[in-house]
Amino acid sequence: MAEHPAYPVGLRLTGRRVVVLGGGEVAQRRLPALIAAGADITLVSPEVTPSVEAMADAGELTWERRPYADGDLTDIWYALIATSDHDANTRASAEAERNRVWCVRSDDADEATAWTPATGHSEGVTVAVLTTDAKGRDPRHTAAIRDAVVEGLRDGTLVAPHHRTRTPGVALVGGGPGDPDLITVRGRRLLAAADVVITDHLGPRDLLTELPPNVEVIDAAKLPYGRFMAQEAINNALIEHAKQGKSVVRLKGGDPFVYGRGMEEVQALAEAGIACTVVPGISSSISVPGAAGIPVTHRGVAHEFTVVSGHIAPDDERSLVDWPSLAKLTGTLVILMGVATIAKVAETLIAHGKSPDTPLALIQEGTTAAQRRVDATLATAGEAVLTHEVKPPAVIVIGEVVNVGPNPSA
Ligand SMILES: C[S@@+](CC[C@H](N)C(=O)[O-])C[C@H]1O[C@@H](n2cnc3c(N)ncnc32)[C@H](O)[C@@H]1O
Repeated sequence: MAEHPAYPVGLRLTGRRVVVLGGGEVAQRRLPALIAAGADITLVSPEVTPSVEAMADAGELTWERRPYADGDLTDIWYALIATSDHDANTRASAEAERNRVWCVRSDDADEATAWTPATGHSEGVTVAVLTTDAKGRDPRHTAAIRDAVVEGLRDGTLVAPHHRTRTPGVALVGGGPGDPDLITVRGRRLLAAADVVITDHLGPRDLLTELPPNVEVIDAAKLPYGRFMAQEAINNALIEHAKQGKSVVRLKGGDPFVYGRGMEEVQALAEAGIACTVVPGISSSISVPGAAGIPVTHRGVAHEFTVVSGHIAPDDERSLVDWPSLAKLTGTLVILMGVATIAKVAETLIAHGKSPDTPLALIQEGTTAAQRRVDATLATAGEAVLTHEVKPPAVIVIGEVVNVGPNPSA
């Protein structure tokens, strides 16, 4: 049977009966793909792993709590044989053969009539890698090939242009806090396929150096308009390039909708009739504290966290923040854009009841090679900014969570 290579095919199992024998780790690993394929799954096994049980509880499969019995593989399309009983597996695969049901066997690939490829997904495509002969099977090698292809497609090092589905338009991509590895897979893929990238000063700047030379990179801060026209200039640049039929990526730091003015750009594009895809990003408000060893919540310490912009001081009449109410919260306060105003903010929080000893940390340029963390208290925050010359961008965390990590002053 193994002299010829297997014939690769994609089974369309929606609504078709599939039987899985055994409820151990092999079944656990294979079941999600069968469920995703919409198969009508009956699982036969006296015992199953907790994850498989959860799938049964969720109604994703029917679990029959008993060992395999002859006749289980009638009127089905496909079988996965993965019990720990070799004799039962042998009897089951003989039954599958009699019934002309394709079956995979976890314990003996040579006796199986089908092999499961190493699979991965990227951008609406399934990459499936099959070994050519059962005796020379090296599952790690096939998995490594699968990983190389899928990773390459995801991170853009393997470029497979879309000839049918590539649509011009704008993608508003959250680039994460700065570390190039912290952009989403979708964001990175869109970046790799872009004709034009419009960036800010925050976010994963290192990724820009990887772009092919034909990609036009526009620094939004340098668009030729006056300071207050900047957003309009960005909107216009997005619209103009998209209208030329180009794939435009608007790359922003963190998440586009967390103090990112992302929705203003979405609205401007909608008014111009241009399609816009929004790709969320990892916001610095959570990831920068995390990278510095500070969880924004912690059991028994903080049950809520509040993200606040500090770009307008509490005594400024334009402020929309209710600082007195924030002073009464027991959870974590995370302040963005607050380096210049932290002394005033701390003073206001203390004046409205927050303890001056409340721990506080400033994390500058989080997740980048230049990351540094300065610990203080509410009472000493203003002074700490001056002494340690803390500069934007920095995230400020206020609350007991600052001290729960193993090495708060690291
Ligand atoms: C205009 S806001 C944009 C926030 C962004 N959209 C996000 O979700 O992270 C800029 C502020 O985010 C914070 N920030 C962004 N990236 C940071 C980083 N790598 N380290 C520290 N703070 C960062 C700083 O408070 C900075 O002033």
